[in-house]
Amino acid sequence: MTIFPFFCPFFILFFTQTGYVQAFTGTYGINYGRIANNIPSPDEVVTLLRAAKIRNVRIYDADHSVLQAFSGTGLEIVVGLPNGQLQNMSSSADHALSWVKENVQTFLPNTRIRGIAVGNEVLGGNDFSLWGVLLGAVKNIYNATKKLHLEQVVQISTANSFAVFATSYPPSSCKFNDNVSQYMKPLLEFFQQIGSPFCLNAYPFLAYASDPEHIDINYALFEPTEGIYDPIYRLHYDNMLDAQIDAAYAALENAGFHKMEVIVTETGWASNGDQSEAGANATNARTYNYNLRKRLAKRKGTPHRPKNIVKAYIFALFNENEKDGHLSEKNYGLFKADGSISYNIGFHGLSAGHSSLLSLKVL
Ligand SMILES: *[C@@H]1O[C@H](CO)[C@@H](O)[C@H](O)[C@H]1NC(C)=O
Ligand SMILES: *[C@@H]1O[C@H](CO)[C@@H](O)[C@H](O)[C@H]1NC(C)=O
Ligand SMILES: *[C@@H]1O[C@H](CO)[C@@H](O)[C@H](O)[C@H]1NC(C)=O
Ligand SMILES: *[C@@H]1O[C@H](CO)[C@@H](O)[C@H](O)[C@H]1NC(C)=O
Repeated sequence: MTIFPFFCPFFILFFTQTGYVQAFTGTYGINYGRIANNIPSPDEVVTLLRAAKIRNVRIYDADHSVLQAFSGTGLEIVVGLPNGQLQNMSSSADHALSWVKENVQTFLPNTRIRGIAVGNEVLGGNDFSLWGVLLGAVKNIYNATKKLHLEQVVQISTANSFAVFATSYPPSSCKFNDNVSQYMKPLLEFFQQIGSPFCLNAYPFLAYASDPEHIDINYALFEPTEGIYDPIYRLHYDNMLDAQIDAAYAALENAGFHKMEVIVTETGWASNGDQSEAGANATNARTYNYNLRKRLAKRKGTPHRPKNIVKAYIFALFNENEKDGHLSEKNYGLFKADGSISYNIGFHGLSAGHSSLLSLKVL
């Protein structure tokens, strides 16, 4: 006989079967980037997210006005430790402890901070000086959470771009770059110990834009297509995102990590771009994001890992007018800076008076 019938499901929801904390509790999350001078206030963002029924959110820093606005809302947030702080955190356990106290502990439990992303796309990235300090920063931040008894509340991770991989086609052949491996392996060993997932920023858009002559856009957009066949796995792929996730699983397996879960921490499609960026338009962005929502709502795994339900944070909530680089960088938002939708995938924008906000349509 069950003594606490209501407590058990709650407990299972909160922790994985292995007893580790899990930062991503749903399957559809969103990145709330804020490199813009014209986007809605954090309070309006809360309204927008609640109306869209999006509960899992990532930010790229630990902005206090955002953490304050999220207090008492039930939104689950992953904060970011910016790359510029990695050296500092890695050099001193005391700095790491202060950072976690000031930016995480103070806001708990009312603001549901569920994770800390330590650095963003560090390994394989341009700033080689950070490659060697990432693990030290991760360990110091983890130790700080332990000291504060928060290691069962916030999960420590770091997001990786495709630059960590040497090859990724076909998925089964994927391996980490030789020069990344010596930094990646000890990092993964640590993440394995503390039960953290491998976080992947995966962009079929970027793959398509880099080789539009040879890549079928329907494959990148989850549209009907022949797809590809992986002769080693003997598996068929009908969309590129699944193939990219399985490539990450293959790289992990090739490095000896057979049990680690892959979570997509960023994916999206730009609704505008430079001349050189093939496929960056609103029609394709809508198709990608609409089909992605349907894909995630199925709560299914990938061909190679059918039991690991695909979870992804969309990039991004808003178009961000102050981002550098290609024009696409400013145009990933599901919403425009004024809070209206960029294109219709079933969400409703902020408009005059929040009473007009409707919940999302059933897909
Ligand atoms: C290092 O981190 C501590 C704690 O967050 C902070 O007070 C200090 O200003 C940081 N130093 C630098 C150089 O960023
Ligand atoms: C983390 O804390 C443990 C003890 O709780 C200690 O053994 C270990 O050396 C610490 N690691 C770092 C990187 O400070
Ligand atoms: C690492 O290897 C890749 C692929 O060979 C290369 O493009 C990159 O420049 C190398 N990076 C460093 C920092 O050595
Ligand atoms: C968007 O790009 C696709 C090719 O990727 C093209 O077929 C389509 O016409 C474009 N749509 C618009 C509105 O420009």
